[in-house]
Amino acid sequence: MAQEDTFKKIVSHCKEYGFVFPSSDIYDGLAAVYDYGQNGVELKNNIKQYWWQSMVLLHNNIVGIDSSIFMHPTIWKASGHVDAFNDPLIDNRDSKKRYRADVLIEDQLGKYEEKMDKEIAKAAKKFGDSFDAAQFRATNPRVLEYQRKYNELHTRFANAMEASNFEELKQIILDEGIVDPISGTKNWTDVRQFNLMFSTEMGASADSSSKIYLRPETAQGIFVNFLNVQKTGRMKLPFGIAQIGKAFRNEIVARQFVFRMREFEQMEMQFFCQPGTEMEWFNYWKQYRLAWHQALGMGNDNYRYHDHEKLAHYANAATDIEFHMPFGFKEVEGIHSRTNFDLSQHEKFSGRQIKYFDPERNENYTPYVVETSIGVDRMFLSIMCHSYTEEQLENGSSRVVLRLPEPLAPTKCAVLPLVNKDGLPEKAQEIVDDLKFHFNTHYGDPKDSIGKRYRRQDAVGTPFCVTVDHDTPKDHKVTLRYRDTMKQERVDIDALRGIMEERVSISSLLKKLNVKE
Ligand code: GAP
Repeated sequence: MAQEDTFKKIVSHCKEYGFVFPSSDIYDGLAAVYDYGQNGVELKNNIKQYWWQSMVLLHNNIVGIDSSIFMHPTIWKASGHVDAFNDPLIDNRDSKKRYRADVLIEDQLGKYEEKMDKEIAKAAKKFGDSFDAAQFRATNPRVLEYQRKYNELHTRFANAMEASNFEELKQIILDEGIVDPISGTKNWTDVRQFNLMFSTEMGASADSSSKIYLRPETAQGIFVNFLNVQKTGRMKLPFGIAQIGKAFRNEIVARQFVFRMREFEQMEMQFFCQPGTEMEWFNYWKQYRLAWHQALGMGNDNYRYHDHEKLAHYANAATDIEFHMPFGFKEVEGIHSRTNFDLSQHEKFSGRQIKYFDPERNENYTPYVVETSIGVDRMFLSIMCHSYTEEQLENGSSRVVLRLPEPLAPTKCAVLPLVNKDGLPEKAQEIVDDLKFHFNTHYGDPKDSIGKRYRRQDAVGTPFCVTVDHDTPKDHKVTLRYRDTMKQERVDIDALRGIMEERVSISSLLKKLNVKE
């Protein structure tokens, strides 16, 4: 099945099974804004819990905060967001649609890649087992021509972005003959800067109100609280401050479902350390964060680092952790060594001294910062994409199963009475009432056949189903069914908790992480 079709199926599965709904659905939705449903919110909460505990619980020197979304407007001047948090946009005069100029060019690069891949696939089919893809790539004239065009465009594009040369970006679009996907024309306006921050007014009357911004990242709430936390918590370097919260960006091109949203959630941690030790910590956090992802068991090959060649002026190292989505390897998390840029800027703009007194060195200095920043929604999407599976079964039927990492599954166990009589519902409820104190347990009404109820639990990723049948009141035993293997076994009711609890607990993931204190 084409990757695009798989992705469409995942999006509709999310809606059908209560994971994600378009925002304002009955009003036909609001672009790039989504609501999480009854199953989505549980999965999302579990992701946040796993992240929070891996940071705050496992590291003695990391504490959390919850800062406000509205902040003093000067913060965004100091951080550089007012002047430099921009995307280059371009309009098509015929369709009246707006695009990101850089995305149009990136799509064009993608087209050259697709053409090369097609030539290679065609040749592979023709030559069969004896086909050498590397040799074909290095010698086939058509592939070489596409590669030349790709390289030329890539260099021109990178130079234009580096120099913020908007005329050149427009010229590239014209030279490449890029057309609007809706109108099909090349009737483009000039490229302009577009600031991604949403703003609003604070205050009752027009003259006394002031313009404030909805935060585009949670990190600044941590920087401006650095002294508060350090002093009240008597924190010694190195230490970290973690935060989970909403962020807002007026993305020009919002696409790929919850991958790029206008309202999203971040999990960020700023790690403050002595100048000169930042590369050691950068490497630590790079490895630790990858291990966090890998502990979920979604295939180590599905992750890769993407080290940044071009660094922001304040950064001295940066890498992304990318995940293999159905639309390619994409950034899920960023790890940045941000030097002392943010704290120094806030010192300058606020007029307050923001320094750390180091008792061992007997001096004041501005700490350096290593940041880890992951989007909850992108993490959610990577998990959904990996877990969604269509399976052909031996008996000729098929099933859709969400192979979610067990500790993150919205419901851990569904207890299903076989029929709606003979005391079976009551017995099932008794089991739920016992297990619900330990993990999320669901009672499954016996309206449908047991087979249908199993399928429904598979589709929402429930790792365990427990069936109560006519023998249960006599032998105190139930049938335990495993989601992934569909294996069934007869077990004593008293053994249920022990079998499931360790597998579905967040601590089973945390134990796989190697923490440095
Ligand atoms: N404080 C650093 C920072 O915000 P970023 O690379 O702009 O860095 C960090 O964002 C993470 O936030 C990304 O890796 C991504 O997971 C998530 N993110 C950023 N923009 C997003 C958007 N429009 N929709 C969903 N997630 C987004």
